[in-house]
Amino acid sequence: MTPEEWKGKLSAIKDSFSSLISEKKADYEALYQRFLGRKGELSLLLRDLKDITAEERKNLGMLGNAAKQELLSAAEKIKAAAAAHSAKAAPQIDITLPGINFPKGSLHPLTQTMDRISAAFLKLGFSLEDGPLVEDDWHCFEALNFPECHPARDMQDTFYVNAKDEKGKDKLLRTQTSTVQIRVMEKQNPPLRVFHPGRVFRNEAVDASHAFAFHQVEGLYVDKGVTMADLKWTVDAFMKDLFGSSVRTRFNPSYFPFVEPGAEVDMSCVFCKGQAEHCPVCKGTGWLELLGSGMVHPNVLRACGHDPEIWSGFAFGCGIERFAMLLYGISDMRMFFENDFRLLEQVR
Ligand code: DAH
Repeated sequence: MTPEEWKGKLSAIKDSFSSLISEKKADYEALYQRFLGRKGELSLLLRDLKDITAEERKNLGMLGNAAKQELLSAAEKIKAAAAAHSAKAAPQIDITLPGINFPKGSLHPLTQTMDRISAAFLKLGFSLEDGPLVEDDWHCFEALNFPECHPARDMQDTFYVNAKDEKGKDKLLRTQTSTVQIRVMEKQNPPLRVFHPGRVFRNEAVDASHAFAFHQVEGLYVDKGVTMADLKWTVDAFMKDLFGSSVRTRFNPSYFPFVEPGAEVDMSCVFCKGQAEHCPVCKGTGWLELLGSGMVHPNVLRACGHDPEIWSGFAFGCGIERFAMLLYGISDMRMFFENDFRLLEQVR
């Protein structure tokens, strides 16, 4: 190669470099590889100097090295500009900052109570059942031996829905989980042992111990030869499971249309153990009224197509809020629905 040819090549390389570097998307890596890398155009040209005579080589070498410096510093400017640009675009993360604390959730106290109640029922061999919240008159009242105009209906006024049931009566929000007794016995033949926790509704003014929506749990056991003794043992075992083995239970005669005989169940006061004259929970009586119970009324068995001469059974039911208030020492039922974190965080 003659010195003239060599110079011509050098200036061609410089030209193509400067036209590339003036492009908007000029990229340092690509430019470096193409011109300055081991097999770059300029590097190869400098290597060609060995074929040129010694006196010319010195001169051309100086030209070549100067060009190399020029290209290198231009390419490096591109690199610095690209680095500054990407630093601006990337989010500024300070990895030394403390992390964001996500508050841990927990189950609502009523859900926890329902879970505890369910566990107690399951241990006693009862199985979980479900039933609808929007009910018909038959399942909520009629089949439970509350005939139309029965005075016991007055205590369970509820909300009616703009829809008719099969008999042309307004549908309603169920007032008690006892509806599930009927739903189960219509579908299943005894022997059966079931329970159902769920929401119920009543037309009530809200105060510390009343709400228009609350929760109950219902237990039902039907078999041959079931007696009041089975009811007493089961309820006692259930209460001991929930409140500890030292609690005692007592049964007082009471009236519920769907049981005969019917009884209210009291539990010995878990707060004062019957020792405090002015206990705010039991009012000094030593007893807390907790459950309704009784032997399934023959009319109820008949309404579901079972012969009361063959089958007998017991049922019991209670409010879940009342249990939760006793388990967690909560004094006002409204607290369950206010969702105040101070309460929710305490009951974990
Ligand atoms: N359903 C009744 C109520 O809401 C509670 C009840 C009483 C349920 C006696 C029962 C029972 O199963 O046998 O007041």
